[in-house]
Amino acid sequence: MTRTRTAILISGGGSNMEALIKASQSDPDYPAEIVLVISNRPKAAGLTKAASLGIPAVAIDHKDYDSREDFEAEMQRQLISHNVDFICCAGFMRVLTGQFVSNWAGRMINIHPSLLPKYKGLNTHARAIAAREPWHGASVHYVTADLDSGSVITQIRVKVDDDDTPESLSQKVRAQEHNLYIRALKFALLDFTPRDPSTSDKR
Ligand code: GAR
Repeated sequence: MTRTRTAILISGGGSNMEALIKASQSDPDYPAEIVLVISNRPKAAGLTKAASLGIPAVAIDHKDYDSREDFEAEMQRQLISHNVDFICCAGFMRVLTGQFVSNWAGRMINIHPSLLPKYKGLNTHARAIAAREPWHGASVHYVTADLDSGSVITQIRVKVDDDDTPESLSQKVRAQEHNLYIRALKFALLDFTPRDPSTSDKR
């Protein structure tokens, strides 16, 4: 079986990244092969984790670039040079330009810690607690130009307890995110056809 060459974009600890790498390394029938990890933060702990799992791990510090476009051009260069066909954003905390998103339309997904369409953006756990939501959770969705607004592939919900803090709720949600992301990526790749490299945008 041909597995889809997949990159993971991170900015931090990379626990979702680690779960996806381990799923693809432990199951030869898993439809994704993780071939590259990119972090926009050079000190992200996820980079060390990825390298220790044998995955090429590249830091591209957004602060080294004058514009988002220049930063993304370097990401695109790395993605093309590793023949990447699909991207998973996993705690990647940079907003992407419409151009980059359209380059990867239908081929880039993201995990977001809320029951979308509720609580797009940041501080989702604190906002859910402040609104006295009985349930919170996480969603995996396609990335589109509008932040956290693409079609949802799958979600998991988590009960909000009376004594939850943003930290405790974040931990409870994150513990569920890993299997959610593994299932969502598998589902997204069910009928995925890689692009013909001869027609790919190599901007
Ligand atoms: C995860 O909880 C993910 O849902 C969230 O960042 C965390 C990354 O954790 N993503 C966002 O907030 C994106 N808007 P990880 O680095 O341990 O996978």
